[in-house]
Amino acid sequence: MKVWAERRLWAIVPAAGRGERFASSQPSTLPKQYTPLLGKTVLEWSLRALLAEPRIHAIVVVLAAGDAHWPQVAARLNSPKLFTAVGGAQRHDSVMGGLEFLVSRAADDDWVLVHDAARPCLSRQDIQALADALDDRSNEGESAGDVSGAVLAAPIVDTVRRVLPNGVETVDRAGLWRALTPQVFAFAALRRALDEAARAGVAVTDEAQAMERIGIRARLVSGSPFNIKLTRAEDLQAAAGILKMGESSDMRVGQGMDVHAFGQGDHVVLGGVRIAHSQGVVAHSDGDVVIHALCDALLGAMGDGDIGQHFPDTDPRYRGADSRVFLRVVAERMRAAGLHLVNADITVLAEAPRVAAHRGTMAANLGQDLDVPAHLINIKATTTERLGFIGRKEGLAAMASVLLAR
Ligand code: CTP
Ligand code: MG
Repeated sequence: MKVWAERRLWAIVPAAGRGERFASSQPSTLPKQYTPLLGKTVLEWSLRALLAEPRIHAIVVVLAAGDAHWPQVAARLNSPKLFTAVGGAQRHDSVMGGLEFLVSRAADDDWVLVHDAARPCLSRQDIQALADALDDRSNEGESAGDVSGAVLAAPIVDTVRRVLPNGVETVDRAGLWRALTPQVFAFAALRRALDEAARAGVAVTDEAQAMERIGIRARLVSGSPFNIKLTRAEDLQAAAGILKMGESSDMRVGQGMDVHAFGQGDHVVLGGVRIAHSQGVVAHSDGDVVIHALCDALLGAMGDGDIGQHFPDTDPRYRGADSRVFLRVVAERMRAAGLHLVNADITVLAEAPRVAAHRGTMAANLGQDLDVPAHLINIKATTTERLGFIGRKEGLAAMASVLLAR
């Protein structure tokens, strides 16, 4: 058996259900996987974390015959990793539809991950934990390639009761887990398991159940209990709350600082504003300490190195460069990383020139380059009470702090 790195990881997303329980609690013309949720459809949220995992080679979305809603979603997601297949009457028929699509594409021991379209709160951390589990041979004396599959699950925390014809009994909850998705198994084994279950007329409700029938047990990977399945309409509000919580915790902070010495000249450039002064600054570029500090803060928050790395001062292209060009490049990298600016706070440290009158223009320039409203950028200035190199008017400095969100 091959080791992980040689086995590709495919994803199948069954999205061919009719959402009958959901529709019965909230009459709507849209199936639940296409219901709007915080500005996207449920399905887009469910695909989001899968699309962000680089180890996933391609994703097969399994649609109901005649699905008219997918083309719009596909156009918005616009990913070369997305493919579609046609589903069937039950969830396991739909998963089979996805596996059929892979027959001519996947190797027998490639991994196939199955994730319900109705689980929009899947986190990137849970996908990573699942993918890591396939490679983790530290437990149970397994040797390379021995892991046969992995299933996200959450331990049951409530006391569990079984209703019997003649009363109620308490079930020992020790060792009881809720099976979630994604679930990952080897392609050929999963296909055989689902096929055998179908032949035997057993309507399995997840992949692990089918695998158990052919004697293959998956490893349970402890996942977030917030990876809920939308079943009834009220679950939509819970999902919105969970997704918002995830967004607000996905914040990144960064700070930057820049100093330039005064030298020959008659102006300085701060935040893209040319300010008349009795001296200029000694710099390879235009020496705009505000933009340099801001770029470093942004790159810091992105975990993407620093300004010197992206725009080396040994590179002749940057001689006398307009620093606003640097800021636009950094803004582009920020967008590509899926991050946006929440706010920036910048302090200029200088005895002279006075910058108060230019703060509005500076914020407008920076907002324009970052493509955000200027009010997200605050600029303040201070002297250093004639102390140190700034106080002696040997140079000036700027500090910037930024907050970014995904
Ligand atoms: N699913 C599917 N094909 C089916 C049935 C279900 O692809 N024939 C998918 C659903 O779209 C969903 C996942 O399997 O993403 C889990 O199923 P469930 O939550 O039961 O969704 P529905 O079957 O759509 O809902 P209901 O059972 O209430 O009709
Ligand atoms: Mg169903």
